[in-house]
Amino acid sequence: MRSTRRALAAVVGAAALLVASACGTGEDDDSTATQVEVFTWWAEGGEKAGLDALVSRFTTACPGQELSSGAVPGGAGVNAKQVLNARLQQNDPPDTFQVHAGAELLDHIDAGQIKDLTAEFSSWGLTGALPAGLIETITVNGKLWSVPVGVHRANVVWTNDQVLAESDILTAPKTLKELLGNLGRLRRDGVESPLALGRDWTQLMLLESVLISDLGPKRFTGLFTGATKWDGKAVRAAIDDYATLLDFSNADRDSLDWPQATRLLADGKAGYQLMGDWVAAELEAANFSGYDSFPFPGNGKAFQWLADSFTLTTGAANPSGGACWLQTVASPEGQQAFSAQKGSIPARTDAPTTGFSDYQLSAAADWKSGVAVPSCAHGSACSQPWQNAANAALGAFSTSDSTPADKEALQSALAAAAKQFIRQA
Ligand code: GAL
Repeated sequence: MRSTRRALAAVVGAAALLVASACGTGEDDDSTATQVEVFTWWAEGGEKAGLDALVSRFTTACPGQELSSGAVPGGAGVNAKQVLNARLQQNDPPDTFQVHAGAELLDHIDAGQIKDLTAEFSSWGLTGALPAGLIETITVNGKLWSVPVGVHRANVVWTNDQVLAESDILTAPKTLKELLGNLGRLRRDGVESPLALGRDWTQLMLLESVLISDLGPKRFTGLFTGATKWDGKAVRAAIDDYATLLDFSNADRDSLDWPQATRLLADGKAGYQLMGDWVAAELEAANFSGYDSFPFPGNGKAFQWLADSFTLTTGAANPSGGACWLQTVASPEGQQAFSAQKGSIPARTDAPTTGFSDYQLSAAADWKSGVAVPSCAHGSACSQPWQNAANAALGAFSTSDSTPADKEALQSALAAAAKQFIRQA
C-alpha cells in the first residue's frame, strides 16, 4: 500500500508541487504527493459527521490535495490504536492520525513516530488561541506534538427522562448515594438494568467518575502523577461504590460499545448512562430528544476533559498535505464545523459557536469556570500501555463475582499498572 502511494506520488506534476509548498511546514517540503491519509476511529454517527465536516473544509482549503480518511471503528479508538501501532511498527504510517492530546502521545514521541509541531503552533496562531492550561497539559518534553481540534467532557450522566418520570424521579441526584437510591427505585419499578454500560473502557470511565467524587479533583489527578496512592483506603472505598453501581448495569455490558449502551438508554431500557458528551450528537442523530444530562453526582465543578487531536507522522509520504490537514484542524472555522457536528467544544477560544446546542454552550462555560481533571480512558491522564492495563483490569472485574478478593485484585492490578507506567509527561 505504501509503495503504491509512493509510486502515485512520483508521477504527480509541478502544479501539485506548487500547491503542496503553499500548504507545507517548510522544512521537509520536497513531497510531490497529493494524497493525504488521515487515520481515525470516527466511522459512524456524530463521530463521522464531525470528521466529514473537517474533510469538507480541507477540500476547500487545500486544493490539489485529495484526502483518504478510512476509519477503524471502535469507541475510544480501542481497535484503531492497535491497527495504527502495528502500521507504525511496520514503517507504514498514515500522514496524520487521530490521538488524544496529552499523555497518550508519550510512546509515539519516544519512538520518534511524530513530528514536533511547536513552531507550527505559533505560525498557525494556536499558541495564543488555546487556553493556557490546555497548552500546559499537552506540552510534552517542552514541545507540542498534536493539534487539538475539540474538547469533550467525560464525566457526564445522560438520562431517559420518561423512564425516570415513570418512577417519579424528576431532579438530578446531587450525590452518589442519591444516584444509587434512584437506581434502586428504577429497578423496583421494573427497569431491570437501570444503568446502561458498555465494555472495559466505558467501565473505566465510570470508575474514574466515582474516584473523582470520592477523592476530589486534586487527589484524583494525583493518581496519575504519583501524588495519590492507588493502593490506599480511599481507592478501595471507591471500588466498593463502583461495584455497587456495576450491579445496576446490563449483564451484556462487556459485549457493547458505547453507541449500543446509548441505544439502551434511548430505547427506554435504562434510565442513566455515564458517558462523554459525544452522546448528545448520537442521540440527536437518532432523533431522540427526551434526554437530559448532568455532571456525575459528587464531581462538583470537576470538568474531566479530553481533547481529540491530530499529529504529523515522521514517515509521512505527504508531509505538505498532512500539514495542510493540520492547518484546517487548527483553524477557527475548521474547529467550529467539527464541533457543531461532533458535540465537542472547539479547543480554540476564538472559534465561532454557530450551530452549537444549549448543552455545548453550557459545556463551554463550564470548561472556562470548572476544575480541569484529566481522563485515563481518553488519554489525557495516562499513556496507552497504562490505559490498556487499566481496561484489562476493569474487564476482568466485570466478569468476576465482585467478591472482596475480586475487588482487591482490581485494586492491585490498577496499582501495578500505575507503578509500571507512571512517568512525568
Ligand atoms: C473518545 C474520543 C471522542 C469519541 C469517543 C467515543 O476517545 O475522544 O471523540 O470519539 O472516544 O468513541
